Amino acid sequence: MSPSVLNADLSRLADEIARIAPVSDMVHLDVMDNHFVPNLTFGLTVIEPILRDEQIKADCHLMIDEPDRWAPEYAQAGACSVTFHLEAARDPATLCSVLRREGARAGVAVKPGTGLEEVDRLGDLVDMILVMTVEPGFGGQSFMDDMLAKVQRAREIADRAEGDVWVQVDGGVGPQTIEMCAEAGANVFVAGSAVFRAEDPAQMVERLRGLATAVRR
Ligand code: DX5
Ligand code: ZN
Repeated sequence: MSPSVLNADLSRLADEIARIAPVSDMVHLDVMDNHFVPNLTFGLTVIEPILRDEQIKADCHLMIDEPDRWAPEYAQAGACSVTFHLEAARDPATLCSVLRREGARAGVAVKPGTGLEEVDRLGDLVDMILVMTVEPGFGGQSFMDDMLAKVQRAREIADRAEGDVWVQVDGGVGPQTIEMCAEAGANVFVAGSAVFRAEDPAQMVERLRGLATAVRR
């Protein structure tokens, strides 16, 4: 479980993270630059203390232009996982290698309209495939059911690789949709509004994990 703080109270970011971190495997941080996506959140200067905190496993999702230039700094600052968008990267293979060298897992994200052919070609360089199940940019959108076939293909690619490659789903994941995602082969689940709009966010994280792990594949 990697809850997204996008729909939390960002003026109290540390407190919001503290509410869910103890029951979460990672904390999903959505970096948006108002260029790659039409929204703006935070960058390295804001989240650096969180990345440096060894108690928190930061899962950085970079929805930014020029990730080749900016993504390595997130790994250097201590992110556990750094995911960049394939659509924005100039040299994804080199960027994956750099992220690993800097100590992070290398994640590659694809928007709903992007295929997985290039991810497949990257082969063993990738540690996580992020299948977007909404158009990136905003929380609270509806899950796109037609992305489930892509999640299945991502799982096939992940299983062919040598290492332990994770398949992450992000967008519209909640109690109504998480089981379908797990059935399709996802094993890392981002949930933003489902968690932070719940009365008890930590309890919702546990509930979602229970639903996902009960699915037998
Ligand atoms: C959207 C972000 C997501 C977002 C998910 O572009 O990448 O991580 O926070 O929010 P929900 O779970 O509300 O769809
Ligand atoms: Zn995200």
